[in-house]
Amino acid sequence: ELSPIDKAKFLAAKRATDFVEDGMRVGLGTGSTAAWMVRLLGERVRDEGLKISGVPTSARTAQLAQEVGIKVITLDEAKWLDLTIDGADEVDGDLNLIKGGGGALLQEKIVATASDRMIVIADAAKEVEALGAFPLPIEVIPFGWQTSQALVEEMLISMDVLGRDTTLRMNGDAPYVTDEGNHILDLHLNRIGNARELALVMNQIPGVVENGLFIDICDTLVIGHGSGRVETRD
Ligand code: A5P
Repeated sequence: ELSPIDKAKFLAAKRATDFVEDGMRVGLGTGSTAAWMVRLLGERVRDEGLKISGVPTSARTAQLAQEVGIKVITLDEAKWLDLTIDGADEVDGDLNLIKGGGGALLQEKIVATASDRMIVIADAAKEVEALGAFPLPIEVIPFGWQTSQALVEEMLISMDVLGRDTTLRMNGDAPYVTDEGNHILDLHLNRIGNARELALVMNQIPGVVENGLFIDICDTLVIGHGSGRVETRD
């Protein structure tokens, strides 16, 4: 028996897999909601003989996709994707997102951007009026990360962003390391007034590889509710 939140994630994932058709090249997201989607696609491959190629957005997802029998290819082999299905940490009314709570934002953004369509699957708790209550992940290269952090903080001050507290993501006693060998700064901003500008400005800072703001990338949102209701929004 699934908890209401897991049921909501499962139902959103299930609805999204209806958009997957034979022959598609599909970007496979990362996180607990995306993991449901990968398992459900695996079931369709096994039970219906669905023929797809999957491009995973993390080592974790690559392993799961292989386990459930999805043919895994690289993004360079795929060149372009028909569809990416991924979770999110927050989504606003314009379908802009914060992603990267699971640390996979860099590959996720590359894969989603290389797709004709991105479908985001989420439980209703991820819907917000304004982005920013969830800490915004910024991926930085390890070299001089403290200098990059200082520049990020200066930038937040000059942009008059409300919250300016930034923390290095840890994995026990050591800095968290992404699949690309980088670190993550989590920005505790409370409320992001101008997400579009912030996303552009962050990526101008030397040492910053990518940020977790996904602006104008998501095309369709599928929201699951613990009650069993599922909504789709474009
Ligand atoms: C992974 O890096 C994130 O972008 C995930 O999409 C996000 O953390 C959602 O995860 P859940 O589905 O587990 O909430």
